[in-house]
Amino acid sequence: MSRFDGRVAFITGGAMGFGRAFGETLGREGAAVVLVDRNGAAAKQAAAELSAAGLHAAAVECDVVDKDQVDHAVAETVDLFGGIDILINNAGLHLTKYNRPFSHLPLSDIRALFEVNMMGVINCSLASLEPMRARGGGSIVNISSMASYSSASPYGVSKLAVRGLTIAFATEFAGAGIRCNAIAPGLIATESAMADLPEGLVNSIVNDRQLVNRLGEVADIASMAVYLCSDDASFITGETFKVSGGIPLWI
Ligand SMILES: NC(=O)c1ccc[n+]([C@@H]2O[C@H](COP(=O)([O-])OP(=O)(O)OC[C@H]3O[C@@H](n4cnc5c(N)ncnc54)[C@H](O)[C@@H]3O)[C@@H](O)[C@H]2O)c1
Repeated sequence: MSRFDGRVAFITGGAMGFGRAFGETLGREGAAVVLVDRNGAAAKQAAAELSAAGLHAAAVECDVVDKDQVDHAVAETVDLFGGIDILINNAGLHLTKYNRPFSHLPLSDIRALFEVNMMGVINCSLASLEPMRARGGGSIVNISSMASYSSASPYGVSKLAVRGLTIAFATEFAGAGIRCNAIAPGLIATESAMADLPEGLVNSIVNDRQLVNRLGEVADIASMAVYLCSDDASFITGETFKVSGGIPLWI
């Protein structure tokens, strides 16, 4: 018997990076996982690989910005696996171009960023409320960022909003037995982050800023996500947890 047997996880941005790792880790612990991504082909490929490894996995093409697509993805998940117990709001835009000052970024880019990083979380959380309530409760994990503590850029502010939404939904959904927490990752070696960041910057973050001098791995974030989704975290809600190798903040 595994910890997540009989549970269903709806994971946005599930095709690659963190999302795929969440799917694999929760799947290995018995959950049925739905990889929800606007890149339907990549999500399908990832779900096929997980299924080939013996996990219960499916892919649903969905842009989290579009409420109708989200409602449809939630309905498809309930049809496929009978409900939703876990929502991981992971889909997000994070290229360094979004880390410039507001006045240096076209308004269209700022709008697109907030649509995905903020409205995506709102759309998926609201759409999952009733299916989770019907199961007697559940757990939402939002993916914020360490940038929400240190960067007043559009990206940092969008991820600060994710921390705010975490408190809002923890409060609003508590009566339905739903907990809502967030993770603020530091630099983690996903394909997209490594392709985006210059090697010199990666080395200086790892060696000069972190207290643990190794590159963060998706498994470091997946283990925190799994803990927060599990019954071991049943007394924890409304919190954001930093997982960054100890990047120091001012006190
Ligand atoms: N990698 C890092 O170092 C790091 C650090 C802090 C926070 N984060 C956050 O973690 C999350 C995942 O990061 P990653 O490195 O795995 O990203 P990634 O770019 O590797 O993967 C993101 C996935 O989300 C999907 N996606 C993007 N917009 C979408 C939308 N509108 N609807 C549905 N799917 C969409 C993409 O198709 C892709 O499959 C993001 O929210 C990011 O901001 C990452």
